[in-house]
Amino acid sequence: MNDYITLAEASELIGKSKETLRRWDREGKLSAVREPISNYRVYKKSEVLNLFSDFITENTIETFSNYIKPENEYKVLELFAGAGGLAIGMEKAGLNCVALNEIDKFACATLRQNRPNWKVLEGDIKDFDFSDFRNKVDVVTGGFPCQAFSYAGKKLGLADARGTLFYEFARVVKEVNPPICIGENVRGLLSHDGGKTLKGMISILDEIGYKVVPVEVLKAINYKVPQKRERLILVGIRKDIEIKYEYPKPYHKVYNLKDALKKGELFDTDVPKSEGAKYPKSKREVLELVPPKGYWRDLPLEVQKSFMGGSFYLGGGKTGIARRIGWDEPCLTLTCSPAQKQTERCHPEETRPFTVREYARIQTFPDDWEFAGSIAQQYKQIGNAVPVNLGMEVGYSIVKFLNEHYKVK
Ligand SMILES: C[S@@+](CC[C@H](N)C(=O)[O-])C[C@H]1O[C@@H](n2cnc3c(N)ncnc32)[C@H](O)[C@@H]1O
Repeated sequence: MNDYITLAEASELIGKSKETLRRWDREGKLSAVREPISNYRVYKKSEVLNLFSDFITENTIETFSNYIKPENEYKVLELFAGAGGLAIGMEKAGLNCVALNEIDKFACATLRQNRPNWKVLEGDIKDFDFSDFRNKVDVVTGGFPCQAFSYAGKKLGLADARGTLFYEFARVVKEVNPPICIGENVRGLLSHDGGKTLKGMISILDEIGYKVVPVEVLKAINYKVPQKRERLILVGIRKDIEIKYEYPKPYHKVYNLKDALKKGELFDTDVPKSEGAKYPKSKREVLELVPPKGYWRDLPLEVQKSFMGGSFYLGGGKTGIARRIGWDEPCLTLTCSPAQKQTERCHPEETRPFTVREYARIQTFPDDWEFAGSIAQQYKQIGNAVPVNLGMEVGYSIVKFLNEHYKVK
């Protein structure tokens, strides 16, 4: 039954919910068969993937764009800036970065090397006072690392969150007093500590004078990024402002790995050559056996067992393990290290991880954006980033909001 996958695996593989797949099953778009031993309903993998290709290629002509011209000069203060994925996105949307804070020296070197004119504040955010920027910045952005709060049982206030990086984000927003602030995070924040962490963040922003727009998780594939990455966006609007914030509208066209690495709509040239990590011999030998769009299930049973170890018996799809990406699908989420165990994303034709420049392309960084530090440091900076094109679309939504805000002011 190697060619067949469960509903959970199909859902993971193409990034559609189980409910959608059940509906497709009911509507006859997908036909299930019974797995002989367990009697579970399973689906033919090629059929599931074909269905996804149809979904990808339909509606490829866009009838709209989120682009909007800034009507004033808008200023961004970017916290937890990393190697600048979000910052470049903001710049592409026409916003000016007045300062960026980041603790990692290699990421700071990357920012300085590429934008010598950017004011890079290197060091722990805790050590910086941003009150000089008070009322001089239009938006504060930041991808604060997620940490649990300790609760005294009541509504969480700013002071209760001391010691966390979200506290620092909120403290800077309070110091700077921008019309809008944007936090970005992983989807996991929705369920972190049973949802209490996010609830705490919303109540803290409320306490410092910001109303939080209903939180959304944006799918990068809907924003011209050839990767199935998701980003949770937390938008706070200063309470004296009545303007409604709207998330960027999703596009229909989904780009794939070919669009990332070859000349086409996303890039004017094929991906430049660059250094990259290699798989150890044992892993390479296993991945040689996996076809494009395949994963560990495509291996001979004995190899599956030895490669997966204990997780073989744990159940669940795990379709990201020993995965070889196909040219005609978006890449799976890139991690901070391409050699990381159980998150292999192998090149479609060669048995190796993506190179540094391929990684950067999949995150929609421009080819001339150079990364500082060792190869491992470079992968980490790229893997940590908000995809540039997603950042740009979020940037347009901020420009739209600010244009309206200054018009009525
Ligand atoms: C998810 S990454 C941000 C990525 C960035 N938004 C981008 O698009 O490239 C989070 C960043 O927070 C930085 N960071 C963590 N702790 C910090 C601290 N105490 N002060 C300043 N930066 C910190 C990390 O070094 C990391 O680069």
